[in-house]
Amino acid sequence: MALFKSFFKKNHDYVPSVPELTGDLNQPLIQMNKIVKTFKNAAGEFTVLKGVNTSFSRGEFVGVIGKSGSGKSTLINMITGIDRPTSGEVFIGGVPIHTLNENQMSVWRGRNLGIVFQFFQLLPTLSLVENIMLPMDFCHMYEPGERYDRAMSLLRLVEMDQHAEKLPTAISGGQQQRVAIARSLANDPPILVADEPTGNLDSKTADAIFGMFEDLVSKGKTIVMVTHDSSLAKRVTRTVLIADGEIVNEWVAKALPTLTHQQMLAASKQVEPRRFEAGEVLIQQGQASENVYIVTQGEVEISAQPAKGGEEVLSRIGAGQMVGEMEALKNRLATATVRANGKAVEVLAMPREKFLRLIGESEGTRQAMEHLVRQRESERLRPVLAY
Ligand SMILES: Nc1ncnc2c1ncn2[C@@H]1O[C@H](COP(=O)(O)OP(=O)(O)O)[C@@H](O)[C@H]1O
Ligand SMILES: [Mg+2]
Repeated sequence: MALFKSFFKKNHDYVPSVPELTGDLNQPLIQMNKIVKTFKNAAGEFTVLKGVNTSFSRGEFVGVIGKSGSGKSTLINMITGIDRPTSGEVFIGGVPIHTLNENQMSVWRGRNLGIVFQFFQLLPTLSLVENIMLPMDFCHMYEPGERYDRAMSLLRLVEMDQHAEKLPTAISGGQQQRVAIARSLANDPPILVADEPTGNLDSKTADAIFGMFEDLVSKGKTIVMVTHDSSLAKRVTRTVLIADGEIVNEWVAKALPTLTHQQMLAASKQVEPRRFEAGEVLIQQGQASENVYIVTQGEVEISAQPAKGGEEVLSRIGAGQMVGEMEALKNRLATATVRANGKAVEVLAMPREKFLRLIGESEGTRQAMEHLVRQRESERLRPVLAY
């Protein structure tokens, strides 16, 4: 420890001034604009992130998912500043972190971000409590006399205080990860970034670690977590799906879950956002609809005018579901009218022929759609009158 102390004293007495996070609550906490990341090696250039635009709000618990090699780690390394974009901008709490120099970056990161890796990365020669004091020493946070007590209280938080004086090698992987989480909280950062933090743990331990993240989110932290574990991905508040270095539209992923990630990405590029005011008609009974629609906000009402007259409400459909796909699949005129129910509705419109081409490429999706069509047709036999 003495060695480390003198190292930090010598090299880090000068702490560069770093901009503070601004408190504008109306802005996303993390904003990424047109991020391109290209790696160069002997084989040439390889573009890993292809113009990513995304943002994360305060208090969100976001899961970043996608196949191995899709660009998840590269994306979150743009947030931590471990890596820099080739072009594009990253604002965190209003601070343009892509413009900070290396010294500013490391201090800014130490104060504002907690980072948790798959392989815990505790320093093997330091005790657990010393590992947790290190980020406070490095960033000159808290009075030197307070740091030990603070580190102990963080160890208590993750129920590791009774092991405080042990070396990392003396405890299990799950315990090391708990200590790594305590370390990430050393400077009380508003944001935690974790890259497959449960990837090296058994499912029971993974569940416990995930529970700790949930707890931190409930206390106001914002967490961005890459995960391979689909059962954990279901429990975050939002997922961001990356395919081939681009972000898949989350509504497309939700409405068409049986597509491959590649197909979802292709579909994301074929949809256009549209808005319909309250009562406005999206699809008119008896006419051919040019588009299928994925509802993203609000609710649509599906109603039919039977031959005997009047109007029957057949169904109401909300965010994440499609309308118009039955007519497209069966290549027929609309057998019901779809309109914005009560309030304005936001949708993604996809041209009918593009939708059909997509379905033609995906047997799983065709089957899922046909199942849905049968379900909707049976609903049709019992109109929803009693809402
Ligand atoms: N430093 C690097 N140099 C060259 N290629 C890299 C580098 N880092 C990542 N890559 C490549 O970028 C792609 C995405 O990597 P990564 O972001 O680690 O994916 P993921 O985390 O989704 O598995 C991979 O093909 C990987 O080989
Ligand atoms: Mg990775």
